[in-house]
Amino acid sequence: MIQGICFDLDGVLVQTDNLHYLAWKGLADRLGIPFDRAQGDRCRGISRMESLEIVLEHTDHIYSAEEKERFAQEKNETYRAMLARLSPSDLPADVLPTLRELRRRGYRLALASGSKNAGLILTRTGLRPLLDAVADGTCITRSKPDPEIFLTAAQMLDLSPQACAAVDDAVAGVQAGRAAGMVTVGIGDSARRSAGDYNLMCFGQLLDLFLQPDFKSNLRM
Ligand code: BG6
Ligand code: MG
Repeated sequence: MIQGICFDLDGVLVQTDNLHYLAWKGLADRLGIPFDRAQGDRCRGISRMESLEIVLEHTDHIYSAEEKERFAQEKNETYRAMLARLSPSDLPADVLPTLRELRRRGYRLALASGSKNAGLILTRTGLRPLLDAVADGTCITRSKPDPEIFLTAAQMLDLSPQACAAVDDAVAGVQAGRAAGMVTVGIGDSARRSAGDYNLMCFGQLLDLFLQPDFKSNLRM
C-alpha cells in the first residue's frame, strides 16, 4: 500500500529550478563562461558544488578550492535574493489544491529536497503546513542520486520506503527514489525523459494517478 508521498521541491512544488538556472547563469556570464539550459538541466537534483563543476566545464581555467567556495557562495547569495521575493502566488495553481486533496484522502506528505534553502522557500510560499515531514539539504550528507534524502523522508513519516512514492523533476532524483525502493513519479524534465515508473505532464495529474481506486494495490510492493 502506498501511504506516503515524498516530493522534491525545486521544479516540482515551485518553479525555483528556473531561479537556480538564472543564478548560475549570472555567475557564468560574469566569469565569461558559456552556460546553457541543457547544462542547467544537468544541475537538477545534484548538490550546489556538483552543479558548480557543470558551470565550470567550458573553461580551461583551473580554479582553486577557495575560489570555487566563493563562486558557490556568490551564486547562493544571488539565488537567495531571488527567493526573498517569492510569495504564495508563485506556486503553480494546481499545487495547493492537489496537496490538500491528497492529504484529505489520507496520504502522508513529505519534502525530500537536497536544497539547503528549502526552509526559506517553504516559508515564503506558505507550503510548510501542508507537509507532515521535511527532509532537506541540512539533513543529509550524500546528494541525489543517493537514496539518503528519500530514506530520511520515509523515516520521518514513520513509513517504510516501499510504502512511499517519490515525485521528482530530476533524473538524479528519480534514480534516488528508485534506489530507496520507492515507486517513482517523474514530472517536468524527468518525465520528458521517461525516467519515472509514472511520468506526468503537470502536477495536478498526481490526483488522477494517486486517486485511481486500484492504484495503491497495483503498484509493485
Ligand atoms: C536541488 C536542485 O533541489 O537543490 C539543485 O535541483 C541544487 O539544482 C540543490 O543544486 C541544492 O540547492 P541549494 O539551494 O542548497 O543550493
Ligand atoms: Mg527538482
